[in-house]
Amino acid sequence: MRYAPARVWQPVGVERGDVVRTYKARRRVTPGQAEALDRLLPAYGLDLRRPFDAIEVFGRAAPLVLEIGSGMGEATAAMAAADPARDVVAVEVHTPGVATLLRRIEAAGLGNVRVVEADALDVLADLPAGGLHEVRVFFPDPWPKVRHAKRRLLSPGFAELVADRLRPGGRLHVATDWADYADLTRAVVEASGRFQVAGTHRDGRPVTRFEARGHAEGRQSYDLIAVTTGPAIIRG
Ligand SMILES: C[S@@+](CC[C@H](N)C(=O)[O-])C[C@H]1O[C@@H](n2cnc3c(N)ncnc32)[C@H](O)[C@@H]1O
Repeated sequence: MRYAPARVWQPVGVERGDVVRTYKARRRVTPGQAEALDRLLPAYGLDLRRPFDAIEVFGRAAPLVLEIGSGMGEATAAMAAADPARDVVAVEVHTPGVATLLRRIEAAGLGNVRVVEADALDVLADLPAGGLHEVRVFFPDPWPKVRHAKRRLLSPGFAELVADRLRPGGRLHVATDWADYADLTRAVVEASGRFQVAGTHRDGRPVTRFEARGHAEGRQSYDLIAVTTGPAIIRG
């Protein structure tokens, strides 16, 4: 099997030194997934060793969406197919999910999606300020135990980073099926002073298997859409 997951950003689990990670990386893939990674990453992956240049990557200038934690890519592929005028970069640390999304992209013939296997926080930090039209976070890992709360993606630092990377008027769309995570999201977004809440609707987000399972277990989904206020702040 040629596929070797070591690329530039190498997530190594939840804790690396004193860095708290928002995930537990799962890299084991089936032979079919390894084949998909080998064959499709050259076409639909991003080479993170090069500075990101959206025009070079997608061959056009179009509004750019970053999806964090795309999972198996159901929402990513469906939303990209429904909105071909926008380009999507999906970031996921779960290798089987990356492979599955690559297959969806191929099957649907999507030219407007690229996939990155990396920690989205590293990817965000390396993107130019003010370049994104939208950041999507659909069902971030809930980390419901109190001792794990520090692993939650939504935090004041995350809101700042996202606000910096979004263009003025750019959107952050978060969906969760944990009520307290929805409360946390709203609190973080409002406290940042960088966003205005613009809605609590799904806005084209399809029901994925993951979401349907939550509903079957009695949870409901909460969406929050917030829009950046003021100009992007360029930091060093
Ligand atoms: C609960 S799943 C939801 C997946 C998908 N968005 C959906 O709705 O089906 C959360 C996903 O976020 C990914 N994830 C967590 N932290 C991440 C990070 N820092 N960078 C990239 N992906 C991350 C996990 O690997 C997992 O696949």
